[in-house]
Amino acid sequence: MKKSILILNGPNLNMLGSREPEVYGEETLADIHRLCDKVASKLDLTVDFRNSNSEGTLVDWIQVSEDKHSAILLNAGAYSHTSIAILDALRTINIPVIEVHLSNIFQREDYRHNSYVSKAADGVICGFGGQGYELAINAAAKLII
Ligand code: DQA
Repeated sequence: MKKSILILNGPNLNMLGSREPEVYGEETLADIHRLCDKVASKLDLTVDFRNSNSEGTLVDWIQVSEDKHSAILLNAGAYSHTSIAILDALRTINIPVIEVHLSNIFQREDYRHNSYVSKAADGVICGFGGQGYELAINAAAKLII
């Protein structure tokens, strides 16, 4: 069976395309989903691509991620900067975690410079827009194949 990467997108990422295009570009989440499917299939992997605006739902998905998935790619959106609950959930699992942000969070407001997700992530990719997801799938593949 092909290995699967769980790709989790947090709050407001469903609004990509119309949301602050000067910051996030014009790509929609559906465009990024298509890109991820394409990149994963070239690596003989599958992706389970999800989005939730709810912190608890993200925690629920992380807690059971090991059952079916070999790695997590996580763009927790604003929860990256606030959620100890997501950090705690990531610390309960033992599969690689790659953190992704479309924007370069270090060039932005001070309150975006800290990420709780980073404390549990194997690596972080930020500032490359949707292409960051491609880079992250390649990074995850190196860790799991
Ligand atoms: C983001 C960066 C976060 O600071 C912001 O709250 C987001 C998107 C990014 O992908 O650049 O919602 O995670």
